[in-house]
Amino acid sequence: MDKICVIDMGSQYTHLIARRIRELGIYSEILPYDVSIGELKRVDPKGIILSGGPSSVYEEDSPQLTKNFFNFVKEEKIPVLGICYGLHLIIHQLGGKIKPFNRKEYGKTELEILNPKKLFEFLDKREIVWMSHGDQVESMPDGFEVLARTITCPIAAYANESLNLFGVQFHPEVIHTQKGITILKNFVLNIVKAKKEWKLENWIESTIEEIRSEIGPTERVILGLSGGVDSSVVAILLQKAIGKRVHSIFVNNGVLRKNEEIEVQETFKHELKFENFHYIDAEDLFLERLKDIEDPEEKRRIIGHTFIEVFEKKTIELEETHPDIKFLAQGTIYPDRVETSATSKTSVKIKSHHNLTLPDNMKLKIIEPLKDLYKDEVRKIGLKLGLPKGIIKRHPFPGPGLAVRIIGAIDKSKLTILKDADEILIEEIKKAGVYDALWQAFCVFLPLKTVGIMGDFRTYEYICAIRVVESLDAMTANFAKLDWELLEKIGTRIINEVKGINRVVYDISNKPPSTIEYE
Ligand code: XMP
Repeated sequence: MDKICVIDMGSQYTHLIARRIRELGIYSEILPYDVSIGELKRVDPKGIILSGGPSSVYEEDSPQLTKNFFNFVKEEKIPVLGICYGLHLIIHQLGGKIKPFNRKEYGKTELEILNPKKLFEFLDKREIVWMSHGDQVESMPDGFEVLARTITCPIAAYANESLNLFGVQFHPEVIHTQKGITILKNFVLNIVKAKKEWKLENWIESTIEEIRSEIGPTERVILGLSGGVDSSVVAILLQKAIGKRVHSIFVNNGVLRKNEEIEVQETFKHELKFENFHYIDAEDLFLERLKDIEDPEEKRRIIGHTFIEVFEKKTIELEETHPDIKFLAQGTIYPDRVETSATSKTSVKIKSHHNLTLPDNMKLKIIEPLKDLYKDEVRKIGLKLGLPKGIIKRHPFPGPGLAVRIIGAIDKSKLTILKDADEILIEEIKKAGVYDALWQAFCVFLPLKTVGIMGDFRTYEYICAIRVVESLDAMTANFAKLDWELLEKIGTRIINEVKGINRVVYDISNKPPSTIEYE
């Protein structure tokens, strides 16, 4: 299958570039900037895109391509497109000059196309593009010609046709570049001439075959099922491949959404007919261990470790009756596995987000059927495989669940309040028809009491915050500008129907600088 490699120079958009290429029907994967020629040969890309990045090419320690990169692509006739930092790097490494510009160019800019051939086919003379750069190309080596300029950037795109090298100063992958997709299409289809061979139907068939041959005719698989999209899609793929030889374990950790444990059991046991579905009610154990814990990272740690303990215990019990359990399936997806330099720099500092991987001493072979897929692809596959829409479209829910949506120590009565309030919010948002357009909508329990008045009585109760955000990938998010009447209805219902809440506030913070969750 033809492949496009995106070489990561540290841009926050690296995954977005790869996703856009896949949306065009061509398989793409991400490689680090210091990838060796040997690895490039192994991956065998038909075309390469160099991402943007926050560094300056002339700085010490800035990401540079391995020395022989340009000889390699020349010999193999692999077209290369540099975006922003990638555009600078091509010029810099081939002997041209990049200089800092006295003003950073940021946001929408008009691009004037001087030469429309190949990269800019089907574009108008002037197009709106998205810029974000401080450096610019000052001089180019022989063989490069200018394709476009902006008012402040005389070399905003170039080509070196004999070497098959192209560069754009702006970001074609972001939606603000109005013809960005056309430009990427021109590169991968017209210049690289990649064939559109990335089709999810083919992926499903071949993956089911691969799972079958890997697991063999008698061996069994254990799967931690959370009811979220990824593990649910793994479950159904495994069911199609090996039937009842998949053992799904669903742990109720006490911090799930209201009735979630009932709904997941109903879907998998009854609707989808999973024979070996194991429900473990560990609510009391989790809540006991979380008692009086206020620190969010400590909550995460306790929930993660307790989960592993409960899961391991059940696995050992199952192994006694089924010694042929040899595999552990996980719902890891591509962005979980391939951290770009942009995500790896920030994610560790901010929060210990990652869902836990299970311990090595379980001696089970790991299978991760979704490891090369993006979330939107996982969703499409889930739909094709007949998973209920409710699961596919469900908003993301953090592993530590409601424990990080109750500020400070948690207990059963706060959990009941939060579950009831959250249920009302989701019900109203679904009724208003806006649920699918939102990234997440949830309630947060603020352990602060304020005064209210209900009938003739003065009340002194807690505050519920409503957090509703729009986002593409959770890296950035904007609060949703919901209709006032809808918000009023939600607030009124929560205050009237949930005992313990007498005030509801709406969160108007964006990410950054805030985060989506509160803890
Ligand atoms: P933040 O709060 O960092 O969240 O803006 C970004 C996305 O990650 C989810 N999230 C988590 N997911 N375990 C998870 O599995 C966690 O500990 C965790 N914390 C945040 C959050 O819901 C949002 O979608």
